[in-house]
Amino acid sequence: MNSTPTASVAPAIPAALIGRLRKARSMAALTGAGISAESGVPTFRDAQTGMWAKFDPLELATPDAFRRNAKLVWDWYAWRRELVAQARPNAGHRALAAIEAANPNFLVITQNVDGLHQAAGSRNVVELHGNIRRVKCSRDGTIVATWDDSSPREAPRCAQCGAFLRPDVVWFEETLPDDALVRAEHAARDCDVLLVVGTAAEVYPAAMLPAYARHHGAAIVEINPNPTRLSDRVDYALRGPSGIVLPALAAAVWGDVPASP
Ligand code: OAD
Repeated sequence: MNSTPTASVAPAIPAALIGRLRKARSMAALTGAGISAESGVPTFRDAQTGMWAKFDPLELATPDAFRRNAKLVWDWYAWRRELVAQARPNAGHRALAAIEAANPNFLVITQNVDGLHQAAGSRNVVELHGNIRRVKCSRDGTIVATWDDSSPREAPRCAQCGAFLRPDVVWFEETLPDDALVRAEHAARDCDVLLVVGTAAEVYPAAMLPAYARHHGAAIVEINPNPTRLSDRVDYALRGPSGIVLPALAAAVWGDVPASP
C-alpha cells in the first residue's frame, strides 16, 4: 500500500496513480460524511464532533424510535435539515463535479443525505441513504412538498392519509432503495478506479462496495485524514481533508479541469 503522512497540505499524488486515473475508462467515488465536514455538516463517528458522540442513533434513526416518539425524531431531522440548508459545497465536492465534467463515465455514490454533490454540479449521483431535504408519508412513501409543522406536540401529518410524515432517509434496520443499490453495485463492478472519500466504511451495504470493486479489478484510493478499517485493503491512501486532497488529485491528473458551477 502507498500512503503519505497526515498533513493539511495536499499529499504528493503517486505517479502510478496518476497514470491509472488517466487511463481509467470508468471511475466512481464512494463518499461519506467527511466530504461535507468542511461545509460545516458534522460527521457521525468522529470523537467529540460526530453526531453519534452526542446523540443516540437508536433514539433517533430507527423505525422503532419513530414509532416511540415521532415528534422527537421529526424535530431532530428538522434541525439537521436547517443545518444542511445553510451549508454550501466545498472544494472537495467541486473537485468531484469537475472530474465528472472531464470524464462523463464517473459516478458519485454517496451515503450523504445533504444534496451537496448536486449543488456542486455533479449530475451522476446515487444517494444510498436518501435525501434529508425530501419528506415523505410514513405509511406509503409518497413524497410531499409542503407540511404543517406548527404543532408543539406531534410531528406533521400526511394531508392525504393522516399518517405522520418523516424524512426520506434510510434509517438503521431499513433497506436501501433498490435502484440506488443496483446502480452502485454496477458501478463498483465496472469501474477501473474507486475513490473512497470521507467515510469510516462501517455501515453496510455501502461499506462492502470497495471490496466488491477491488474484487473486480479496480484500484481503491482512500481519501481521508484518518485511517479506517478499510485502510489495510486500499491501493493508495491519500491522507488529508478531501477539500485539499481532491482538488490536488484532479489537478495532477487532468490539469486544468473545467470549473464547476
Ligand atoms: P462517519 O462519521 O462514520 O465517518 C466520517 C469519516 O470522515 C471518518 O473516517 C473521518 O476520518 C473522515 N473525515 C473527517 N473529516 C474529513 C475531511 N475533512 N475530509 C475527508 N474525510 C474526513 O461517516 P460515514 O462513513 O459517512 O447513515 O457514515 C456512514 C453512515 O453512518 C451515514 O450515512 C449515516 C451514519 O449512521 C445513516 O444515517 C443511515
